[in-house]
Parts: sequence; structure tokens; C-alpha cells
Amino acid sequence: MRVGIIGAGQLARMLLESASALGLEVTILAEHPDDAAALTAHNVIIGTPKDPEALAALADVVDVITFDHELVDLDLLEELESAGTVRVAPSPAALICAVDKVAMRTHLAGHDLPMPDFLAIEPGSAFSFDDLGGRFGWPMVVKAARGGYDGRGVFVVDNVDDARTVINRLHGEGTTALIEEHVVIVSELAALVCRDSAGIIVSWPVVETAQIDGVCREVLVPGNVSDAQRQEGENIALAVADIVKNVGIMAVELFATERGLLINELAMRPHNSGHWTQDGSVTSQFENHLRAVAGLPMGAPSMTATHVACINVFGGPDALDPFHSLHDALGVSGAHIHLYGKEPRPGRKLGHVTVTGDDPDEIRHAGWAAAISLGTVMPDELKRETR
Ligand SMILES: Nc1ncnc2c1ncn2[C@@H]1O[C@H](COP(=O)(O)OP(=O)(O)O)[C@@H](O)[C@H]1O
Ligand SMILES: [Mg+2]
Repeated sequence: MRVGIIGAGQLARMLLESASALGLEVTILAEHPDDAAALTAHNVIIGTPKDPEALAALADVVDVITFDHELVDLDLLEELESAGTVRVAPSPAALICAVDKVAMRTHLAGHDLPMPDFLAIEPGSAFSFDDLGGRFGWPMVVKAARGGYDGRGVFVVDNVDDARTVINRLHGEGTTALIEEHVVIVSELAALVCRDSAGIIVSWPVVETAQIDGVCREVLVPGNVSDAQRQEGENIALAVADIVKNVGIMAVELFATERGLLINELAMRPHNSGHWTQDGSVTSQFENHLRAVAGLPMGAPSMTATHVACINVFGGPDALDPFHSLHDALGVSGAHIHLYGKEPRPGRKLGHVTVTGDDPDEIRHAGWAAAISLGTVMPDELKRETR
């Protein structure tokens, strides 16, 4: 079974670790030779995910194609799929719900799943800016339907002038604008499931995530997730997987609110909220994704400890390479360190640290101690006790 991965970031790099253990042959489509996964892969094709020739070259040497990111051309993937020489997992019909936030909202809206109120505004369509405030109130959230990640493409606007500016800019770029009610978020959670082509689904415990400026900074398992929320989140993710019929991993980002959980967005590739599974679960998201994509049986998603903390490592103001502080960071007892081999820049996600144990405060502190010694600055918002 030969697996192709479109994209060569840290997710592909970590998929390679699992593929190596399983003896799967992987070819990576990388934009640059120094991309995180291109540095560790044996087989690399250089090209962009939107270049038909590069995709054809990848399809030629693999049995199934999967993804490191969602900035892909669904039409090209559909052509590849219908040519029948290679499988695409998840298939473009499922993947659209992770590529396009409007498609996701519209698709799920018919299924009685809890979501924020929303409205899609296509470029050139007639609508009244003044009606927006009446329906959504201020502030409201404007999102690019496609192409956003890590909070890029998400704008909180306070008044009609700002809404007009953002929507017109998105339309100028040919992008549909997704308007959402501004949800009062109590906490952000994520549910992670893996579905195989027979429709079997395994599901990991729901986790608590902390985003700052749209970027995930820490993941706590179970964190402040009640049993009821865990059940509700898992049920939502299972229902979504049954509807969209993804093959492989799917993360469902959730808002915990006074009125229950609401679906934020979907990802159909290994997700930052699931990195903890490498060290805290019987089978990691990376391994199960590959198993599902390759048609192999999936492994148990159970936790190997009662608590897990996963802290992201970012480039600090002086952009030192975290690799140079590895010695100190490894001095933190129990810290599993994962570095992505990316060139350090201030604010760039460069790795993560996972710690497992019985005491949620202790492991969270240990995780942060290691991340800080690797150059991460702890945001003030997260300077609190675990509970
Ligand atoms: N409707 C909303 N109301 C309030 N906050 C939101 C809303 N949508 C997104 N956010 C905040 O912005 C972050 C990024 O939004 P998201 O749609 O997940 O974009 P991305 O694709 O960049 O991850 C979320 O994690 C959340 O903190
Ligand atoms: Mg998100």
C-alpha cells in the first residue's frame, strides 16, 4: 500500500513517523524542499497542490492520496478520483466540508445539528448591509469561506462600516463571505474521530483547547470537559462523520456555550487538538488516519493516562531554534518533545510538548515549563491555575 500526502508541513511529517512504523511507503507532494516533511521523507515530489502535473505525478506512484492541509483544488481531485487510478481519502465529496466553511454549514444545516446562526454572501449577490446588524447584532463574525487557517480569514466586526470593508475585500478576492453570529464562548472543545471506508468510527475523548488570536496554544485532556459535554461532543462528531462520510481523521471544533455545544468547523487531516494522542492514547490520530486511509483496521483510541496536556511551541521574539534548547527542555521530567524542523520565526508554530499523568495541574505546568524553555512565551490569558 503506497500512500501519497498532499502537503509537507508538520502533520505530514508526523504521519511519516507512523507510516514508517507500519512499513507503509509514502510519497510527499511538497512545495519546497525544506518543508517540514520534505526534510524527513524518502520520496518527495516538488510541486503545488493546485498543479495538475504535480498531482498526476503523485497519483502515478501511489495507491491512495491523503492530505496534510486543506488548501487544495477539489475539481482536480475529483478528476483524479474519477479517472480511477488512485483513491482519494477523504474523497473530495467529503473534503469540501473541511475546505469550504459555507459548504460545511449548508450541508450540516439540514441535519438538525447545533451551529451558530449563519448566512453565506457570494460575490455579486444582492443583500443589504443594513439588514445584517438586525439579524446578527454587533459584533458579528465574517469569515472567508475558503483558504483560512489559524484565524487568518476570521474577522470580528463591530459595525456596518467594518462589515462592509471586510465583505467587499473578500468579494474582491472572489471569496464567498460567511457571516456568523458572534458566539459567547465559555470554552472551546474539540471532538476527534476516525472513520474507515466501511463506516466504522473510533472516537477519542473530547478535549479542551485554548485558542489565542485564532491559534491553538494548549490542549488539555479531558481539561474542563464535563461528562455530559464529552458525550454530547462525541455524539455530534459521530453524527457529522455519518453525514459527511469522511475516510480518515476528522476533528470537529466545538464552542461550549450557555446553550450547549455548537459546531465551529471541521478538519479532515490530523488536527492540533489531537497531537496528544501520540503520547496519551493507545493509537495516535496519525496512525489511525493512515490505517483508515490504507484500508487497515483502526486501533483503540483509549487514553493511556487519566490526564494529558499538550502545549504548542512557538518561536519567541528572538526566533531562536528550539532545537538548541532541547537539552534543557528534556530535563523536564515526563515531557515528550516533538519538533517540526521548521525555520524559527517569531510566533511560528515549531513543535509541541506532551505530558501525561494523574495530576492535571502538574502535567500542565510541566508542559509549559518545557515549552517555555524551548522559547515559547506564555500568553497572559493562560497564566491561571488549571481549574
Ligand atoms: N462565530 C464565532 N463566534 C465567536 N468566536 C468565533 C466564531 N468563529 C470563530 N471564532 C473564534 O475564532 C477562532 C478561529 O475560527 P475558525 O473558524 O476555527 O478559523 P480557522 O479556520 O482559522 O481555525 C475560533 O477558534 C474561535 O476562537
Ligand atoms: Mg479553527
